[in-house]
Amino acid sequence: MASCSTKASLKQKKQHWRIIEILKWGEEYFASKGFESPKREIEWLLVDLLSLPRIDLYLQFDQLINSTDLSKLKSWIKRRLNHEPLQYITGKTEFYGLPIEVNSHVLIPRPETERLVEIALKLAEDIDAKEIVDVGTGSGCIAIALAANLKHVKILATDNSERALQVVQRNAEQNDVAKNIQFAKLDILTEDLEGPFDILVSNPPYVRKDEIPTLMPEIRDYEPIGALTDGADGLDFYRRFAVIARKCVREGGFLVLEVGLNPHPQQVKEIFEEGSFEAIEFFKDYNGDDRVITISVQ
Ligand SMILES: C[S@@+](CC[C@H](N)C(=O)[O-])C[C@H]1O[C@@H](n2cnc3c(N)ncnc32)[C@H](O)[C@@H]1O
Repeated sequence: MASCSTKASLKQKKQHWRIIEILKWGEEYFASKGFESPKREIEWLLVDLLSLPRIDLYLQFDQLINSTDLSKLKSWIKRRLNHEPLQYITGKTEFYGLPIEVNSHVLIPRPETERLVEIALKLAEDIDAKEIVDVGTGSGCIAIALAANLKHVKILATDNSERALQVVQRNAEQNDVAKNIQFAKLDILTEDLEGPFDILVSNPPYVRKDEIPTLMPEIRDYEPIGALTDGADGLDFYRRFAVIARKCVREGGFLVLEVGLNPHPQQVKEIFEEGSFEAIEFFKDYNGDDRVITISVQ
């Protein structure tokens, strides 16, 4: 095993760093900067830098890191110290087992949203859906996960951000589902969505405007503000969905929407009850919180 002191700084003249040395140094360094999971921070960066599974960092601990990778790592660590999310630094993440490119124009897909995909897939099968629309597609994670699992369904991925639509198109190609997905720039709050579709899925911006300053710096300072909040009470998109649902979704179809934490689910439910929708159901995420609401359109 290499015997170099981990006290050295990556900035110092030491040329040859082995994986194990970087792991030790990085864990200490991120800990000294107050990061909660310092080991995970350096492991994640190395996994991406070296394109190795995490276990291989330890199996190949003696491997030297070349100077190009070392300077890339230095710049990544600098960005991470400013609390930039790891996914933006490395430019990628995984969603529903699929590789997804991300950049600062799109929200980083969250594990909770995989629950929405599971529920939409089940409903699509139950009603033999042929056309689905994803409103506020962002990185395209939902649309792409649906397309990858529903080969004969046509999917429309919409967003009001041109930059996001560029990302979703690349993600669709990378995942070999581009032929099943159409893309459209659309402001759902002010423009008409052509339809009808069998299912409308959406994870809309639902953070209240006054909650934004309380978010972690990783979210508040880096994720697109227009992907986080409606700039109001976090309910604008649901009010709009309740208005357009009967026009955009076929009778017998569904809206499948992500919701936030309490009291958000109940507030969203009330919006649809006021619109005289009756078959409304909640589904919990893996933390036991109501996270997805489905509304049957009759
Ligand atoms: C919470 S993000 C969800 C992104 C992605 N679907 C996901 O689940 O990770 C909301 C998305 O809605 C888009 N959006 C915001 N306002 C919109 C509007 N008025 N019309 C359409 N899309 C909008 C944002 O650009 C963003 O991509």
